[in-house]
Amino acid sequence: MLIQENYNLKIKNSFGLNVSTKYFCEVVSKTELKEVLEQFKNENILLLGGGSNILFTKNFDGCVLQYNQKGISKLDEDKDSILLEVFAGELWDDFISYCVENNFYGIENLSLIPGTVGAAPIQNIGAYGQELKDSFFAANGVYLEDFKERTFFKSGCNFDYRTSIFKHELKNKFLITSVVFRLMKSHQLNMHYGSIEQELKKMGKNNPTLSDIRNIVIKIRQEKLPDPKILGNCGSFFKNPEVEKKRFENISQSFPLVKGFPASENTVKIPAGWLIEQCGWKGKRIGNVGVHELQALVLVNYGGADGNEILQLAQKIKDDVYQKFEIQLEEEVNIV
Ligand code: EPU
Repeated sequence: MLIQENYNLKIKNSFGLNVSTKYFCEVVSKTELKEVLEQFKNENILLLGGGSNILFTKNFDGCVLQYNQKGISKLDEDKDSILLEVFAGELWDDFISYCVENNFYGIENLSLIPGTVGAAPIQNIGAYGQELKDSFFAANGVYLEDFKERTFFKSGCNFDYRTSIFKHELKNKFLITSVVFRLMKSHQLNMHYGSIEQELKKMGKNNPTLSDIRNIVIKIRQEKLPDPKILGNCGSFFKNPEVEKKRFENISQSFPLVKGFPASENTVKIPAGWLIEQCGWKGKRIGNVGVHELQALVLVNYGGADGNEILQLAQKIKDDVYQKFEIQLEEEVNIV
């Protein structure tokens, strides 16, 4: 186990921000984890997954910890489904690739989302009509304070749109060491998201396979979302706001082109990308940072940015959206 001092986190955060941490440590087992937690019991601990949903605004005064144990194993199986335990350090998209190769259905629409399996439940990652919670069975892990082990089953995780108990009450208090998924073995695909439907039509595919869906999702993402290896970003910077139906109807009267997707019986989700675009921000650049030209929900670092520049840009966008629509955007990324 290697503990590094004054470690530069540039390659560990997908915004590519040049920040450092007093200590950085990568562990691959619970034994190593226990050792590190004992050694750094008086330091601040920050748990880092793939670094693809975090905005560092300053250097970190403490120990950044990455739990990188890898491996996938079968826990159980019946004629319809399989239970797989996946260690936290597996890359999310590698796990999807494994599932698609083995014909396990349920997470294919989440293809190409960056990050690790251990981080995926924290914000209940979602895309193209699927969410992690749909296939989630349990998360195993330990409390940092006393190293007590615990399994959280789905009902105890408070999953909701881009959130869970791990993102709030248990933030930096509980480390997920593995996640158990229940995946389906028979053909069942979720193809109702607009852009997937359009792509299937274009390709003339009436009966797509599991790997067709994965490939389509990858294609859509690659066309719209910048590759963090080339242009620093964290995917969607804000969440799509949910408003009361009545409020949505009022907005539609002033802005007939507004799109809304039912979120619950009384609420509608409005694409934040659309709101931001209406405020004229799409494709705009200020210094080293900007709003992506193809997807206004993605803020980018053109190189050399400081986390605070991104934060200031985000604030300007929030102010403008509020002024025009009286809607308060909320960040999806974690700000440190
Ligand atoms: N839109 C605009 N302008 C834009 C961007 C989007 O008008 O600049 C409109 C589109 O025309 C479309 C609607 O907004 O009608 C939805 O756009 P899109 O399908 O691109 O999805 P999104 O709502 O912007 C969400 C997730 C993404 C996920 C996609 C696909 C959130 C915060 N974001 O984005 O997740 O990939 O749906 O399901 O819910 C992420 O969380 O990091 C992320 C990328």
